[in-house]
Amino acid sequence: MELGKLWIRTVTRDDLGFVLGLMGREGWGYTRKDLERLLGFRNAETFVAMLGEERVGVVTTTLYPLLSGGYLGWIGNMVVEPGHRCKGIGSWMVRRVVEMLREKGVVAVKLYAYEHRLGFYGRIGFDVGNSFLRFVGFGGKHFQSNVFPLSHSMVEKVAQLDREYFGADRKALLDFMVKEFPGSSFYGCSCGELCGFVIGRFSTGGCEVGPWICDPSSPDVGRELLRAVLSGFSSMRVEMTLPEGNSLALRIAREHGFVAVQRVFEMRYRFLGRCSNDLSGVFAVGSLEMG
Ligand SMILES: CC(C)(COP(=O)(O)OP(=O)(O)OC[C@H]1O[C@@H](n2cnc3c(N)ncnc32)[C@H](O)[C@@H]1OP(=O)(O)O)[C@@H](O)C(=O)NCCC(=O)NCCS
Repeated sequence: MELGKLWIRTVTRDDLGFVLGLMGREGWGYTRKDLERLLGFRNAETFVAMLGEERVGVVTTTLYPLLSGGYLGWIGNMVVEPGHRCKGIGSWMVRRVVEMLREKGVVAVKLYAYEHRLGFYGRIGFDVGNSFLRFVGFGGKHFQSNVFPLSHSMVEKVAQLDREYFGADRKALLDFMVKEFPGSSFYGCSCGELCGFVIGRFSTGGCEVGPWICDPSSPDVGRELLRAVLSGFSSMRVEMTLPEGNSLALRIAREHGFVAVQRVFEMRYRFLGRCSNDLSGVFAVGSLEMG
């Protein structure tokens, strides 16, 4: 195969069937609505890799402003057509999107990788960071207190808290998610002060909890936030990805019947800068594809 015939372009509506087909085969539970939602978020861009005139892969990048200047770039939804794997296309795509991110002012690049993909990304230049566990459970009715519906007007405050733990500015993403999921976004207070928030995303493919962020000195609020989301997803399958080092979040998840099913790792591109996060307040990540 001639790698010289590879090129990349922004996804169009005509590609949706191809992208859904690829993701469906990986069991990622993306629906057309999820994909359309992703395409509607201005800070993320999804690309289709082409081999001549044939579509062969898909990848999404997301930009988050950093307080120190420049952006954190996140890579996700990386898939190559099964019939075209192990020919160098995936490695080419990752290198190409890193190059494109750098052109846009990105000074740090991260992604989440399945355990069996660490070698693939490692060879391209990514170092292994913290580990995370993917949990599966079910929604159910719970009593909760000190948590309130999260509206657009609260997003600025919530984004400030989020920055302390995520390390970059996800305000645009949080604003977008709160508008999309107004009934399953909550914030929590301790002594009248904002100390956590959670967003639950409903899709026909299932429900996902995250981001779930909380000051670790207010564990009860962390628990109440999860309960608020689970109450809205009664008897539905719910998934979330928790830092393996956050014992408090793991305990709360297990208390509510969640079971760990898979391990993923945060990876950082070693030839660019760092974007440090504080996982003590990250109870669940935003999403595997967008950080
Ligand atoms: C991960 C994935 C994107 C890689 O795509 P790919 O096109 O197969 O990637 P490459 O061909 O560049 O590399 C794959 C392997 O083939 C090897 N390879 C590359 N060119 C080769 C060639 N010409 N001959 C033989 N082997 C080759 C690479 O060394 C690499 O080995 P490694 O995985 O042990 O590092 C693809 O396997 C995929 O879509 N998987 C399912 C979705 C997924 O898991 N995504 C990642 C989420 S973390």
